[in-house]
Amino acid sequence: MTGTVKHTHWSKWRCPSNIALVKYWGKRDFQKPMNPSLSFVLQNAFTETSVELHKDGDQKVEFYFEGAASSFGERIEKYLNHVSAWLPWVNKYHFRIHSSNSFPHSAGIASSASSFGALALCLTELDFAISGKEPNCPEFWQKASELARMGSGSACRSVYGGFVLWGQTQLFKSCSDEHAMPLSEGVHQVFYGLCDAILMVDSGTKEVSSSVGHRLMDEHFYQRSRIAQAHENINELYLALLTGDLEKFIAVVENEALSLHAMMMTSNPSFLLLKPNSLELISRIRRFREMTQIPVCFTIDAGPNIHLLYFQENEPDVKAFIERELLVFCENRMWIDDGIGNGPEKLMN
Ligand code: PMV
Repeated sequence: MTGTVKHTHWSKWRCPSNIALVKYWGKRDFQKPMNPSLSFVLQNAFTETSVELHKDGDQKVEFYFEGAASSFGERIEKYLNHVSAWLPWVNKYHFRIHSSNSFPHSAGIASSASSFGALALCLTELDFAISGKEPNCPEFWQKASELARMGSGSACRSVYGGFVLWGQTQLFKSCSDEHAMPLSEGVHQVFYGLCDAILMVDSGTKEVSSSVGHRLMDEHFYQRSRIAQAHENINELYLALLTGDLEKFIAVVENEALSLHAMMMTSNPSFLLLKPNSLELISRIRRFREMTQIPVCFTIDAGPNIHLLYFQENEPDVKAFIERELLVFCENRMWIDDGIGNGPEKLMN
């Protein structure tokens, strides 16, 4: 039975961003993916969000980003109106939300995954408190993932640690388009030392928003083959993760990054988001791998920045390589030192 709450409630979470290795590109219905995706959660790039519920107030939502009132509040208000179908108590309260990111706004990192992840975790905690349910159970995380998905698809993968799968596949019966699931069992230990150097080619705003980007797949000439490719790449990548097969891992990850950009280049209208320096970084990463046999590879989001992936045991060599050869192609020599993380954390103050 749902209890009634007279007092103000409060919740605060830190939620990391994530980077997809098999990319989600294209939607069906409401925020459901055209194809399954597989990502890992970052450690250092995160959002912290607190939500206070008040009985009184002039505005439905007051949203502060890094201390200042922000227009992102309008998007949050729309989102809250939408999720009130699942969380009816949302309509009874005024919301005061404070949010901040660990990474600079200009870093070109998509913050929607970590921000909707953090907000969804707060809403789930409040929901469980209001309805008197025990929070630390699989249903809690599933609900948080589902609520995050409704804000931004990729956010549903941010509420778990390590490697995360989202979308129906033949791999597991429990895979769903509604929420993500953690790949906690059986992943080879080498992958728990996965590092990600985010090389900032251009920190400007994205040329194409992800919602516009996803829509390009609706009528895409390659839609069917892209969906088939993503399924095949998920199977291959999962096998590589289980067996510690670094060669296969590298092959799939780079194929996915370039396929995402190939889809954008061949859509109508077409988008070319890679910059000359992105291509320079890609070819230098490949050459370094060939020359040294050190397992490094790249992945790319819907933008020009390059994520250089490598393993902890090679850190000194790879960091020297970044310093020596790559930073000259980054905007103001800017890069972010990150890697695989353990997932979100509940904050007490
Ligand atoms: O979650 P969205 O709607 O911002 O889409 C994210 C799309 C990619 O980052 C390009 C791929 C992915 O799976 O994260």
